[in-house]
Amino acid sequence: MAKITYIEADGTEHVVDIATGKTVMEGARDHNIAGILAECGGACACATCHAYIHHEWFDKLSPANPVEEDMLEFAVDTDPSRSRLTCQITVTDMLDGLIVQLPES
Ligand code: FES
Repeated sequence: MAKITYIEADGTEHVVDIATGKTVMEGARDHNIAGILAECGGACACATCHAYIHHEWFDKLSPANPVEEDMLEFAVDTDPSRSRLTCQITVTDMLDGLIVQLPES
């Protein structure tokens, strides 16, 4: 279980507990948090789960694999220093406190 803060583009914050093993995308979807469309359902094939990881957390995550890196090129307004596809980030206890900024959708 990890407490994750999702910040919508308008600044609205959602602090929610996400079960270990879920993805950051699934956590947002399960809590009806706006900003992550996840059109492919987590198959790393749409880039609509793109979000910005807070700088304190970005380097603590496992690096993006080549498939995610390729798919990130299709996301809108990416920032190489903090952009990730949230369907590719699996929640662990180590991510307790993670902060995710959601893009304009
Ligand atoms: S949900 Fe489609 S790439 Fe993440």
